[in-house]
Amino acid sequence: MQNTASGKVILAGEHAVVYGVPALAVGIDRGARATARPLLPRERARLAVPTWGIEVSEDGDEMLSRAFRSLLNEHRQSASSRKESAFSVEAFADLPPGGGLGCSAAVGVAIARAVDPTADIEGIQRLAMAWERVFHGNPSGIDAACSARGGAIWFRKGEQPRPVRVARELHLCIGHSGIASSTKSMVESVAKQREKRPEVVEKAFSGIAAVVENARLALEAGDVVALGKLLDMNQMLLGGLLLSTEEVETLCRVARGAGALGAKLTGAGGGGCVVALVSDEARGNAVVQAWDKAGYFGFHTRVAATVHSSFVRERAAYDTAEAER
Ligand code: PMV
Repeated sequence: MQNTASGKVILAGEHAVVYGVPALAVGIDRGARATARPLLPRERARLAVPTWGIEVSEDGDEMLSRAFRSLLNEHRQSASSRKESAFSVEAFADLPPGGGLGCSAAVGVAIARAVDPTADIEGIQRLAMAWERVFHGNPSGIDAACSARGGAIWFRKGEQPRPVRVARELHLCIGHSGIASSTKSMVESVAKQREKRPEVVEKAFSGIAAVVENARLALEAGDVVALGKLLDMNQMLLGGLLLSTEEVETLCRVARGAGALGAKLTGAGGGGCVVALVSDEARGNAVVQAWDKAGYFGFHTRVAATVHSSFVRERAAYDTAEAER
């Protein structure tokens, strides 16, 4: 059985989120998939990721091997793992790595689902976090949460990610600037600016906080036109923090020219990816084609509208967890 997982896109709030401002992220329908089978006698647990041209065993020293071991160990400790604990896993990633789209978390979530098909969302997130910690040290958890849950998430550092209702299916285009983005160096750049000119940076963060709050309301109201304008505003504020590049600006301009409702960089900036909101699939194809003509790779993806009953369940679980904290 194929086990799938979403990639993630930050719709609003990156960078400011590092300083306690909320961010809004969505799980997209492009991500990763994995299959697992129990081991044959004398076979050792192994993980193959053909997309990355890598195959490792559970007991190796490579980062991928350590991440796989960490995920399996977490699985072995969980109550639901009495039966199988050693697997041969094959995983595929449908996202560009290093593009701020949560590629490693999506692969981790797909593997977790393959290894423990009966686990609930929290269980899957726990396994995926064990995997993510090997790659990212102390990740915030937003990537794994988006990947495991899909839909939209309101996220503030140090708090549980809160599900947000998506009233109307979203059509997004993701364009790659062709330049790898380094989260660490872009976060450092903002920190330096904040040291030098705290009042300017704090003003930008307040603007971003307002954008995030309004974007959440627009998502819940299904108002994609307002959401598009908010993406544009967020891009302006990020540009003011020197996080945009010529390529990112070109991608945003071309997308708007092809009919996008709004566009911004997503993730760390300084390269990486752009997200453009469009009204429907036809407009999405037009944006991707326009990018292609301008020499950039992109794809169209969706965020499903929230299914009401599962949202009510999810919010109730969130509220209970909050009350217990
Ligand atoms: O590009 P990504 O997925 O690593 O996202 C970075 C988001 C930042 O806000 C810039 C950093 C962070 O830790 O939240």
